[in-house]
Amino acid sequence: MPTHFRRDGDVALLEIDNPPVNALDLQVRSGLQAGLRRAADDPAVKAVVLCGARACFPAGADINEIASGVAFHRPILLELQAQMEALGKPIVAAIEGAALGGGFELALTCHARIGAPEARVGLPEVKLGLIPGGGGTQRFTRLAGPAAALEAITSGTELPAARALSIGLLDAIAADTVRAAVQWARRLAGGAAAPVLARAREDRIAVFEPDLFVSFRAARARAFRGQLAPWRIVDAIEAACTRPAHEGFELERQWYLECRESPQCKALMHVFHAERAARRIADIGPQVAPLPIERGGVVGAGTMGTGIAMCLANAGIEVTLLDVSREAVARGLERIGALYGESVGRGKLTGEQADAARARIRGAVEYATLADVDIAIEAVFEDPALKCQVFERLDRSTPPRAILASNTSTLDIDRLAACTSRPQQVVGTHFFSPAHVMKLMENVRGRASSPQALATVMALARRLGKIAVLAGNADGFIGNRMLQYYGAEAERLLEEGATPEQVDGVIEAFGFAMGPLAMRDLAGNDVGWAIRRNRALPADERWSPILERMAAQGRFGRKSGRGFYLYEGRERRPDPQVLALIQEVSRELGIKRRAIGAEEILARLLHPLINEGAKLLAEGVAARAGDIDVVYIHGYGFPAYKGGPMYWAEREGLAKVIATLEQLAASHGARWRPCARLREAAARGGWESA
Ligand code: NAI
Repeated sequence: MPTHFRRDGDVALLEIDNPPVNALDLQVRSGLQAGLRRAADDPAVKAVVLCGARACFPAGADINEIASGVAFHRPILLELQAQMEALGKPIVAAIEGAALGGGFELALTCHARIGAPEARVGLPEVKLGLIPGGGGTQRFTRLAGPAAALEAITSGTELPAARALSIGLLDAIAADTVRAAVQWARRLAGGAAAPVLARAREDRIAVFEPDLFVSFRAARARAFRGQLAPWRIVDAIEAACTRPAHEGFELERQWYLECRESPQCKALMHVFHAERAARRIADIGPQVAPLPIERGGVVGAGTMGTGIAMCLANAGIEVTLLDVSREAVARGLERIGALYGESVGRGKLTGEQADAARARIRGAVEYATLADVDIAIEAVFEDPALKCQVFERLDRSTPPRAILASNTSTLDIDRLAACTSRPQQVVGTHFFSPAHVMKLMENVRGRASSPQALATVMALARRLGKIAVLAGNADGFIGNRMLQYYGAEAERLLEEGATPEQVDGVIEAFGFAMGPLAMRDLAGNDVGWAIRRNRALPADERWSPILERMAAQGRFGRKSGRGFYLYEGRERRPDPQVLALIQEVSRELGIKRRAIGAEEILARLLHPLINEGAKLLAEGVAARAGDIDVVYIHGYGFPAYKGGPMYWAEREGLAKVIATLEQLAASHGARWRPCARLREAAARGGWESA
């Protein structure tokens, strides 16, 4: 049975035992129902303690049950909670590990909560496009007040025990958690007054800033735009403060059901599964053990190298950061210091955590300092000859067991591997900028990369808190290969009549963090042009001259204060001179400018992603359509609540996607013709079944 009933004197212990995370599936719920009945019926039981086996409180509902509807098979969570509140005997939760989602809602239903020092609690439902549906928004708000609830539940943050205690979600923290909970329960049972349930608490919802909800909604308008669940969470927390309890609970339930049926929830569930599927590599089984990584070297202390060094150090890895000169190293270390300062300022790290991580990074100019590293990650200029030299030196200086990885965004991993005597240990680890923030790691498999080397960098990604996807060694890997045509199309739209504000506006309204031209300005138009100059195009295509002219005029983007826009700090403004430049290009090309609607702009930007994505599947560069979605969401700002480009295409209808591509191929070149893999998927009704 996944639920055990034990007695400790007059206290009944209900222990949930459902490996690995004690999820509240149907069997557990039935077990709890039976256990609660037994506790109710036994007069010798004066109080109950709820806890989880293996020092782990339930970490949530069973996500497959939510998707399949089994979460609605009785007893549902709400029925259990009603049973708990009607028990007539105090119930105390002993929270060890992570009590999340439905697990935490169960704990919130108890009369008191005792946490282990390292326990974490939270309601992360928003990450799946849901709002908590088991009274979580109501009880959390009644215990901790609306301001704390808004912060925590709309972001889905996990709160450490100390914070949970300070805002009133926990009643105490104790190392011997279960024993402390038993004592607490016994004390409540022996007390004169009946203990108060969260449902009945009024004190924290009675007083709050009068404009709290108005100002919170205004502050988050941009971050939540286009999404359903975060807004419904705000509504539910407001209801907890302004409506009678039963109405608040009822509204939460209605909004939970609304969210659960929404396309956004389905898209986010897809992303959740895709992220996990991306960890699996078809020909590498669990018997391939990753190499332990204690020490790492990072070569190149520039933008990327410094960020990568921070990622490693944050995960407890000792890092040597190497560059060509003491000055370059000093600049890199200074930048790292500044970035850690920002992290502390934003509350991402405590001062002690930042100091400890920073102390793990030491600068160097001699390759001899890499004599004991387990992995070296190269992040020098994107120059093949230079990178080859660096790999030769790494091969000579690092221990034979060490993995040699490159952060290159475009270069051939096999050519770098050929510069070493250990091609089987050479892989790509493509981080995204800023590396210490962006979640994606696009690992790249070279022809000779060994299963162990790949397993090591996939495991490393998890240790760094990144989401990894394994790509084949093809030009641009997954992300940049698809991006190249997306970016190019933005300029074609400008030539034909659109403005930068329109193009970016459509993509941002769709939900991307940033439009393609604003993104160019961020990365640098000089860099974009330099990359493009070295790339070949199919014979029936051309690059728009716009980017080259921007670079030639010193319109590098944000760093020079002007690019496709004018910049004041982070604020961007339209620039009439850019429009004049674009109009001149249209004139020279003999293009009659026209008004282009939002629908056409969106189609022309998204369709190249899909067709190139399908080609990547056909070529085996991407193993799954879901891998491509994960890359676009975590590396390129595609809105997660729309599921990624490949998922979006399936929802649009692959037949419709094909029709649009055929239409565009007539004017845009053969590359736009729907590829065979896309037609196959359309015929079979989806990517994975094709
Ligand atoms: P960067 O120009 O900021 O830094 C390069 C660093 O390498 C400089 O500090 C330079 O002194 C150092 N360096 C040059 N030759 C060296 C050598 N022989 N030994 C040791 N250090 C040497 O360049 P960034 O932007 O950090 O790019 C580095 C790599 O990361 C490139 O391959 C780039 O394509 C890739 N990348 C860049 C991204 C970005 O957004 N900047 C994103 C993802 C990958």
